[in-house]
Amino acid sequence: MSNRVTKAVFPVAGFGTRFLPATKSVPKEILPLVDRPLIQYAIDEARAAGITEFIFVTSRGKSALEDYFDSAPELETALQEGKKHSLIETLRQTDMDSGAVAYIRQQERRGLGHAVWCARRLIGDEPFAVILPDDVIDAETPCLEQMIESYREIGGNMVAAMEVARENVSSYGILDVADSVGSTMRVRGMVEKPKVENAPSNLAVIGRYILTPKVLENLDSMKAGAGGEIQLTDAIAGEISSSQNVHAFRFKGRRFDCGTKSGYLQATVAFGLARDELRDEFLEFLRSAVDTEVPIPAARAV
Ligand code: UTP
Repeated sequence: MSNRVTKAVFPVAGFGTRFLPATKSVPKEILPLVDRPLIQYAIDEARAAGITEFIFVTSRGKSALEDYFDSAPELETALQEGKKHSLIETLRQTDMDSGAVAYIRQQERRGLGHAVWCARRLIGDEPFAVILPDDVIDAETPCLEQMIESYREIGGNMVAAMEVARENVSSYGILDVADSVGSTMRVRGMVEKPKVENAPSNLAVIGRYILTPKVLENLDSMKAGAGGEIQLTDAIAGEISSSQNVHAFRFKGRRFDCGTKSGYLQATVAFGLARDELRDEFLEFLRSAVDTEVPIPAARAV
């Protein structure tokens, strides 16, 4: 099997309950960091890594996501008539080649492993990437591109990894790794959301994967695991015991967990400060907000 990776799966069928009530009608992936939805960051990262086929696993209530990657003729005409050329350019970022995007429904929310399995017919018999858009990674070389470079050499299955605080291990898939060569480490074991006392390390799987179709086969017969969900971690772990071809990749970059309110706010600050046109005013506001002992009352939720 060739080590070329051209397909990426974006599992976006979750409820996003940590962002209710917003996510009652707005998919989490459409929440913006400054002015670009989370999904745009994920798509840009995939494109930079050479991905040409984008497979979204969606669910009911996610039509805003499909619309986001569609053309918007009335809006474009209005911008053209108003000679708003730079906004037209901005809109172009959302253009996708005809036929490059596919949507598949996960009818029942049965876990990340199940969501990826739902895309099996579109993936076919080749290695594929999985990107969780709520993990936003700010990096000089985009994370998936770093992984694909390394993947070309070693193949098999690869997961992105980073150290997390020991007390947080039960929120992640946690790795047991053996020898490391540069940024890659051979994985000896992995366990989803372990208790702190049972965790083999504090090295966590982050939402970027390159997987072989064999993982999809493992998912065929997968039973619910941690949290009553069909876990992708368990299906990948099956490859460790059968063929020992799972590697962890320690990426260079800063990861924001935009699936949590705190991580999302941190990302908003970081990406806001990175914008030349916002930086000075925003920094001034942040400094004064930090200096003020009492939180600004008007910003409190009622
Ligand atoms: P999360 O565990 O963050 O769940 O899923 P969630 O529903 O998005 O958010 P909360 O926990 O309710 O706030 C991790 C990723 O897996 C996808 C989600 O869309 C998210 O990208 N997922 C999860 C599915 O596509 N299907 C599932 O059944 C579960």
